[in-house]
Amino acid sequence: MSTAAEDGCFETKAIHAGYDRQSNADAVSVPIYASAAFDLENARRGDALAGGKLSGFEYSRVANPTVDALERRLAALEGGVGAVALSSGMAAVTYALMCVAEGGGRIIAPVNLYGASVDALGDFLPKFGIYGDFVSDINDLAAVEAAIGDDTKAIYTESVANPSTAVADIEGLAQVAHRHGIPLIVDNTVPTPYLLRPIEFGADVVVHSTTKGITGHGNALGGVVVDAGRFDWNNGKFPGLTGKELVISDQRAGKWESFVSSFGNQAFIKRIRIKYLRTFGAVQSPFNAYLQLIGLETLAVREKQEVASAYAIAKHLQSVPRVKTVNYVALEGQPTTDFAHKYLPNGIGTILSFTVEGDERNVERILDSTNVFSYVPNIGDSRSLIVNPTKVTHREVPADYYDAAGVNDNLIRLSIGLENVDDLIADLDQAIAGAY
Ligand SMILES: Cc1ncc(COP(=O)(O)O)c(C=O)c1O
Repeated sequence: MSTAAEDGCFETKAIHAGYDRQSNADAVSVPIYASAAFDLENARRGDALAGGKLSGFEYSRVANPTVDALERRLAALEGGVGAVALSSGMAAVTYALMCVAEGGGRIIAPVNLYGASVDALGDFLPKFGIYGDFVSDINDLAAVEAAIGDDTKAIYTESVANPSTAVADIEGLAQVAHRHGIPLIVDNTVPTPYLLRPIEFGADVVVHSTTKGITGHGNALGGVVVDAGRFDWNNGKFPGLTGKELVISDQRAGKWESFVSSFGNQAFIKRIRIKYLRTFGAVQSPFNAYLQLIGLETLAVREKQEVASAYAIAKHLQSVPRVKTVNYVALEGQPTTDFAHKYLPNGIGTILSFTVEGDERNVERILDSTNVFSYVPNIGDSRSLIVNPTKVTHREVPADYYDAAGVNDNLIRLSIGLENVDDLIADLDQAIAGAY
């Protein structure tokens, strides 16, 4: 692997980073290592591999060479010290939140998260002693700071919210978090690392649903946790990272290690791999990792075109009869447009949402009469997609959060793909005009 590939620009790293052809029979494309387990070679090496002291492969529930290439590439693209790829975005979100608040604790988050993340923090993780403290505006830094208590373990936000596209003040949130000895965890799914790299603005952990723009073709599920490697976990708040841990220790020699003592600035990501992945087992398959590596190669060109089309469609919708509001904060005068300029100068992403006049029946007619847009609960596909969030992707969001979450029953979300933008606009125009 050449240094140029590792240190190059985004587009170069997206194609070359994290993969060494010479160790892979000179294969140009990353091979699919369809092997459940690997030869440990000798007893000493087996011990070191199983204890996490040696990097290499023993069993594909913990690490696999195809998945490893994806992890190294995503870590390089996000600017982290390490990454763990998982079987879905929700595995990445829940592993990161559980790892930081292990043993019980609270996490501050906005209500405008993806529906399953609201459900995780509001309903499900509380059953395991991890509680979400929801704020109505994550950019109200005074309110966020006021919500931090002794058992607060992290601030969690989406960089660009799905489906409102509101942009989080990552730098401001990181400063607040660090003042209180807690990390900032950012779900960077919507913009992808091409448009925004939260670690550059102080985030400590980045998670993605790689199902979306990173894979880019709607053909594989995946998630990733990326560790910035800068947070000091040794402040008494994170016993999971500083307490002694059998799996990485040598109990016969009485030599006990914690994740921090053993792995230093990689403590968090190693715990995700050696405890969470190894125990809960939401493993990324080598085949899906392969599809995601292929997707990454074209991420930059896809994002450029899709962002240009999304902007054109958002602008167009502003003048379409029956459309009441358009949410796309790259447009001037929207809430958080200033943060869009600061953090996402090349575009905020490929989703947008809009509300229409009338009632749910009008929404249903629009959904049922598009020909180019597919009615699909996904984003970041090369195909353009349309959905009604409160009935599908965000149905877990309690109705009293709707205003702050930027959703309601008249809201339609679009994910813009690679079709010709004129066809997309014509399709929306006929669907909206015919729905009344
Ligand atoms: C912002 C965001 N985070 C996480 C997820 C969950 O990802 P997955 O469906 O890959 O589990 C989604 C899915 O839509 C999402 O939009």
